[in-house]
Amino acid sequence: SSRLPVFSNDEVTKHRSLEDGVWVTYKGGVYDVTEFVAMHPGGNKILLAAGGALEPFWALYAVHDQEHVLEILSQYKVGEL
Ligand code: HEM
Repeated sequence: SSRLPVFSNDEVTKHRSLEDGVWVTYKGGVYDVTEFVAMHPGGNKILLAAGGALEPFWALYAVHDQEHVLEILSQYKVGEL
C-alpha cells in the first residue's frame, strides 16, 4: 500500500484559486477539488472554503451530510494534514 503525502496548513492555504488550485481539508484529509469547482451544484460558494477547512461551511450547509457527497470528495484526495 502507498501513503499519500503529508501537507501543512500553510501549504494548503496557498491553493485558494482556480489558478493556484483549489484545495480544502476535511477531517485530516487534503483534497484538490480544482476540477470539481465547475461541477459543484452549489456553484462558486465552494470557493469560500478554498485553502482551508470544509467543516465550518458544511456545518451551515447540511446538504453535504450525505454519503454520496463524501464519495465525491474522496475522489479528490491528494494527502493528509
Ligand atoms: C450542494 C459538494 C463545498 C454550498 C452540493 C452537492 C454536492 C456538493 C455533491 C449536492 C448535494 C445534493 O443535493 O445531494 C461539495 C463539495 C465541496 C462543497 C465536494 C467541497 C470540496 C461547499 C461549500 C459551500 C457549499 C464550501 C458553501 C460555502 C452548497 C450549497 C448547495 C451545495 C448551497 C446546494 C445547492 C442547491 O441544491 O441549490 N455540494 N460542496 N458547498 N453546496 Fe457544496
